[in-house]
Amino acid sequence: MSGKTPTIVSIGAAVQDVFLSHSDEFVPVCANPHECFLKLELGAKADVNKIDFSTGGGATNASVTFARQGLNALFMGTVGHDPAGEAVLQDLDKEGVDTRHISYSDKYNTGYSMLLLAPNGERTILTYRGASTHYDAKNFDVSEVNADWLYVSSLAGSMDALSTIFHQAKKADIKVFFNPGKDELKQASKLKGLLDDVEVLSVNKEEAMKIVEGDSLEELVRHLLHYVPVAIVSDGPNGVMASDGETIVRAGMYQDVKVIDRTGAGDAFGSGFLSQWAQGKSLKDAIVFASANSTSVVTKIGAKPGILHAGVKLHEMPLTETKF
Ligand SMILES: Nc1ncnc2c1ncn2[C@@H]1O[C@H](COP(=O)(O)OP(=O)(O)OP(=O)(O)O)[C@@H](O)[C@H]1O
Ligand SMILES: [Mg+2]
Repeated sequence: MSGKTPTIVSIGAAVQDVFLSHSDEFVPVCANPHECFLKLELGAKADVNKIDFSTGGGATNASVTFARQGLNALFMGTVGHDPAGEAVLQDLDKEGVDTRHISYSDKYNTGYSMLLLAPNGERTILTYRGASTHYDAKNFDVSEVNADWLYVSSLAGSMDALSTIFHQAKKADIKVFFNPGKDELKQASKLKGLLDDVEVLSVNKEEAMKIVEGDSLEELVRHLLHYVPVAIVSDGPNGVMASDGETIVRAGMYQDVKVIDRTGAGDAFGSGFLSQWAQGKSLKDAIVFASANSTSVVTKIGAKPGILHAGVKLHEMPLTETKF
C-alpha cells in the first residue's frame, strides 16, 4: 500500500441527529445513582434553550474521519427522499466524501434521532431507524469501486447482506474492518461465520464477551485472534487492548477530558484506527490516533464536529507494547 492513498468504502447507517439541551426539564431525577430518569410530564410543554443539528450513523461518521485524514472516502448507505437525507448528503459533500454510490429508499424515511442531553453529558435518544434498517445487498456492490478497505458498522442484523458484501469484498481483494452492532451481536454464531472474511474486528468489552469467552481485555483479544488477524477491544475511559498476532498493545486513557456528548466515540475510535492502519502505520500508532480521535469527539456535541483533521499534533499516552 506504500505510496498510494488508500480508498476506504464505509457501509452502514446514515442518520440526522438533532440535539436538544440546556433545559431545566432535562435535569436527571435519580432513584439511586444507577437509575436516573428524565421527567417529562404528559401534556406539558418543556422549554429547551439549545438545538444542534448534526448527522450521524456509524458509517457516515467513519467516512468523515477518512476524508479529514486525506484518504479517498466513499460512503455507501440508504437514505429516504426527505430533508434528513439531504442533511446527511450535504454534510458528507462538505467533507469531500464520495456519495455517488448512495441508495434511496422509496418506502422508508432517512434515519432520524432526537437526543435529549442532560447537563452531566448523559443523554436519552429517541431513534427512528427507517432506511438504515432495510439493507439490500444489491445496493452495495463493492466490486464496482476500486477500494482497498471496507469499513462496516452495523447493518441492523442483516446477516445475509453482510455475508454477500464480505464475500464480494474478498473476491475483489478488499480488506474488511468490522465493528458489529447490537443486532449482529444477538446472532453470535452467524456472526462468527462472517469473521472468516474479516481482517480487523473492533468491539467494546461487552460486545467481545458476546462473541468469545474471557473476562479481561487480554483474554478477549487472544480469543478473538482465533477468528481474525487483528482484534481490538475497547473499554470506554478504561482504555483498550489490541493485537495483530505479533505484538499486543495495551493503552489507557488518551486524556482525561470533560465529556460533553459521547455519541460517536466508538465510530471515531474504529475509523481513527483504520485511517492509520490502512496507511501502513504500526499497531501502536494506529491505537494512539484512534484514542485521540475518540477522545476529541466526546468533547463536542455531535458525532462529527470533534473528528480530528490531518496534521494535528498528538501527545504521548499511557501505553505498552509487548510480543504476543
Ligand atoms: N469518558 C471518556 N473519556 C475519554 N475517552 C473516552 C471516553 N469514553 C470513550 N472514550 C474513547 O472512546 C473509545 C471508544 O469508547 P468505548 O469503548 O466506550 O466504545 P463503544 O462502547 O463502542 O462506543 P459507542 O457506544 O460509541 O459505540 C475509548 O477507547 C476511548 O478512547
Ligand atoms: Mg461501539
